[in-house]
Amino acid sequence: MSEFSKKTLETRERLSRYDVDELILQRSSPRSMTGDSISEEELMTLFDAARWAPSSFNRQPWNFVYAQRASPYWDSFFEALSDANKVWCAKAAVLVVLVSNQYDPENPEQKFETASFDCGAAWENLSLQAVQDDLVVHGMEGFDKNAIAQIVRVAAHQKVEMMFALGAPVRRLEQNEDGTRKDKITTRKDLDAFVHRNFLKPAGIKNPSSEKNLRHESPVIRNQRAT
Ligand SMILES: Cc1cc2nc3c(=O)[nH]c(=O)nc-3n(C[C@H](O)[C@H](O)[C@H](O)COP(=O)(O)O)c2cc1C
Repeated sequence: MSEFSKKTLETRERLSRYDVDELILQRSSPRSMTGDSISEEELMTLFDAARWAPSSFNRQPWNFVYAQRASPYWDSFFEALSDANKVWCAKAAVLVVLVSNQYDPENPEQKFETASFDCGAAWENLSLQAVQDDLVVHGMEGFDKNAIAQIVRVAAHQKVEMMFALGAPVRRLEQNEDGTRKDKITTRKDLDAFVHRNFLKPAGIKNPSSEKNLRHESPVIRNQRAT
């Protein structure tokens, strides 16, 4: 067993068919956080990672509005969350609202067609940097969009995309009393479900390439099958 696959099997439950980078497989959305704050340096490093995302015409149509737990603005951000999200966000260090510029701030006639898409790329950059820095990032759509738009003062050319929580991680392998993981590790659809050769195939039809692809499988999947 290669060092890569050994580490893979021991430290998490995500197994990939191809040799996907560890950083990508290790990104997840834990809900467990210690309640500790995170430093200004750590926070700005995450936003700097977001800054380097690609965007159409390099417009960089993203805005990140954050409230740290110690700030007087924390309560208004927190109150806008859904009840389910409030439960675990109570131990977050920072709440962030991602706001896109849907139109050019200088010219309201000019729509930025890919603004939401570009924001997604920026958020993923930030999330991957957080894995590197051992911080929790957890995205949220469960919040009152109108309330948060007022709180962070969203302008007519802008749109609230999502919120996310940042925090210090509880050790990933921490378990509940019954032995189950506190944070479930999610898996994904098979490649065949969303990769289409030449044209979109109806649901349930596999790529003609899928058998051939198995010959290129990574050591990770080979080891998984052998056990
Ligand atoms: C835009 C967005 C909104 C989300 N909204 C919520 C949410 O409101 N509450 C929640 O607990 N998780 C939320 N999630 C987390 C997803 O459920 C999670 O990313 C998904 O199940 C995949 O798991 P993983 O991130 O651990 O790989 C959201 C994620 C994204 C990207």
